[in-house]
Amino acid sequence: MATDSATASRGQWSTRGGFILAAAGSAVGLGNIWKFPYITGENGGGLFVLIYLVCIALIGLPIMIGELIIGRRAQRSPVGAFQKLRGEQTAWRIIGWMGVLAGFIILSYYSVVAGWTMNYVLMALTRFFSGKSPEEIGSAFGTLYTAWDINLFWHAAFMLTTIGIVLGGIKKGIEAWSRILMPALFLMMLVLLVDAVLQPGFGRAASFVFSPNADKLTPQGVLEALGHSFFTLSLGMGALLTYGSYLSKDRDLVGSSALISGLDTLVALAACLILFPIIFSQGMAAEAGPGLVFKSMPIAFSKMTGGVLLSILFFVLLFFAALSSAISLLEVVASSFIDQLDWTRRRAVLVTGSMIFLFGVPSALAGSGKLFPAWEKLVGKNFFDTFDYLASNWLLPLGGLAIAIFVGWVMPDDERREEFTRGSKLGALYPVWLVSVRFVAPIAITLLWLFSVEILPKHWLAPSGPGGH
Ligand code: PFF
Repeated sequence: MATDSATASRGQWSTRGGFILAAAGSAVGLGNIWKFPYITGENGGGLFVLIYLVCIALIGLPIMIGELIIGRRAQRSPVGAFQKLRGEQTAWRIIGWMGVLAGFIILSYYSVVAGWTMNYVLMALTRFFSGKSPEEIGSAFGTLYTAWDINLFWHAAFMLTTIGIVLGGIKKGIEAWSRILMPALFLMMLVLLVDAVLQPGFGRAASFVFSPNADKLTPQGVLEALGHSFFTLSLGMGALLTYGSYLSKDRDLVGSSALISGLDTLVALAACLILFPIIFSQGMAAEAGPGLVFKSMPIAFSKMTGGVLLSILFFVLLFFAALSSAISLLEVVASSFIDQLDWTRRRAVLVTGSMIFLFGVPSALAGSGKLFPAWEKLVGKNFFDTFDYLASNWLLPLGGLAIAIFVGWVMPDDERREEFTRGSKLGALYPVWLVSVRFVAPIAITLLWLFSVEILPKHWLAPSGPGGH
């Protein structure tokens, strides 16, 4: 056990509310507002959403509880947490390092897309979209995507902002900023939602999101729903484990996890209910892919009354969501250097933040094809997609699997039971949770992973009904 003074010097959340806002900030990000609506659109809506909700409840939530249990028990970042619980030389520490690597890789390309959101805030503020034709707005995104210098500039600006916040530490940096960013985000979301309800396309959008429709759902879509439930809840790489390590012993982990995953899910659904009414009301298609937020939405804003104000709200919202997630990604990496190498926070944040910036340069240049143009020919994907594939399909699912096995099978029963039940009114759910981390989650993740890296052929999953290809 860490001594009280060692624990206190690592920093702690000042209140339960502060922790919830910071953890919800980690979960709510580009994954909710940029990615979830477009993959919902591509997969035909309702049924995909339903499968995603089942994945969150049966797999995501139990693993989130598991990460918080490990983190709070050990009061260490991922690598040190496994060492503290299983001994210095434990092989489990590799899982901790894998999480650090995942944080490093994800932030390197996440920052590039987050940089685009900063560019779009500026475009919205300068009324760039007003009076522009759909072609002009579409080609503006193309220009941004392919301009290496603009990408590099925003990547640097975003990383500097993230570094600045994480330098402030737990209470004064991460918690203080989460208290500003998250309420502002919820408020902006509410305004946009009210506006969306008033749009003529709202009814159609709501039935698109909520009524199960198997026509467009493919086996890949099922895998995508499971994989995305990991990414969106920030699971599998120790982000919530690290945030849990700053929790005091009397906080309720189960209720907090339910609240965090509930908020994350609400934001993802609200994002769909904001985007699709606008998209449908302007006669556009739901299947626009990754360009849904950066092309379709500005096109819709350019045609709407009040579009300038709405576009500012929307892109600031997206930027805030990205920033509060990026903070947690950098914190995982930096806190590991603080705990493992005894570095000061200042040194750890500056060194790891700069390394992540440098590692992200190839992703920032991916659209321009400027750096190693042969990469795409050799690997089949550009830098950006290569790293996203590596993190989402390998590191996060394997990390999540390891965490489920660790809390389910390796951790002594009295330790995990104590962490689960302490301060919680939901302690009676312990046996249900245990079945999930021991059996349901590991089996589901293993299957997902075998299919997604194509060790098992995807067509085995193909139903013969209307959902097949
Ligand atoms: N949950 C974030 C999102 O949905 O955008 C992404 C993320 C943040 C993944 C932090 C992993 C993580 F540790």
